[in-house]
Amino acid sequence: MTDQNPQQSSQPDGNNAETIYGAQAHYASYPSLRDRAVFITGGADGIGSGIVEQFARQGARVGFADIQADRAAATIDRCTVAGVPHAPVFYDVDLLDIEALQAAIGQAQNDLGTIKALVNNAASDDRHTWQEMTVDYWNNRMNVNLRHYFFAIQAVAQPMIDSGGGSIINIGSSSYMMQEDFFPGYAVAKSGVEGITRTMARTFGPDNVRVNTVLPGWVATERQLSKWWSPEGEEGTLRDQALKRRIYPPEFAQMVLFLAADDGAACTAQQFLIDGGRR
Ligand SMILES: NC(=O)c1ccc[n+]([C@@H]2O[C@H](COP(=O)([O-])OP(=O)(O)OC[C@H]3O[C@@H](n4cnc5c(N)ncnc54)[C@H](O)[C@@H]3O)[C@@H](O)[C@H]2O)c1
Repeated sequence: MTDQNPQQSSQPDGNNAETIYGAQAHYASYPSLRDRAVFITGGADGIGSGIVEQFARQGARVGFADIQADRAAATIDRCTVAGVPHAPVFYDVDLLDIEALQAAIGQAQNDLGTIKALVNNAASDDRHTWQEMTVDYWNNRMNVNLRHYFFAIQAVAQPMIDSGGGSIINIGSSSYMMQEDFFPGYAVAKSGVEGITRTMARTFGPDNVRVNTVLPGWVATERQLSKWWSPEGEEGTLRDQALKRRIYPPEFAQMVLFLAADDGAACTAQQFLIDGGRR
């Protein structure tokens, strides 16, 4: 385990996986997360990979679904090197295939026990214009960024209820709130994530299942740095943030841990922004 705070840099550091995913400050430990079964979508890369690692460091039994087997192996390796008690389990699933997702969650329940926390995270922020949108691409954007959130919830909910409760954390995006206009299909789907959170929080409240959204501002993942980073873009983001530095996946993950732990037991139907105080 390293013991350093993520550092600001004026250059993209997309190859510095230690900084991006593995940097470990003096974070809290949550006894309630030890041995808790957690399922995370999109856990092979980016923010999801950071969330997988942070849960594993807490001693949770982590299952994660993704399509990138090589990146999944790298995530598991990082956790193993960190000495976690339970190596995360990878499920090779394209989330566009809802039956495959349902089967993976069923398998994870067998492998890990009743899933007590679900993190819906996988998404794709590919850029596109309103002019080039087709019906097929619209459906694809909804299916990549929204549909699987609902069906993952549907798959974990009954066992969660039967076991006395649980926590569902939907990763959203502040892009639609900020009126970012370079990916309309993505932004609309992300606004729908908030609809799922608020609706399902009310549905499941009597059964002690909590549902919240955690929204990143700009989190420095390898994909963000390699695909969308520019000096001007970073300058603009830091100008808008109260904190004048980058935000990294391990930092983002801390709010997710809190909400999955017993410590977050009174929080539901909420949005939590992890964006460095962006305006
Ligand atoms: N990084 C940011 O600055 C930022 C900003 C706003 C919102 N977000 C949100 O945070 C979450 C994570 O984003 P990220 O930046 O880490 O993205 P990322 O692209 O780095 O990681 C996404 C992961 O999801 C997986 N995935 C995508 N489509 C999949 C599919 N069909 N089936 C299985 N796995 C699939 C990818 O393989 C990848 O491992 C997303 O919900 C995104 O909308 C991120």
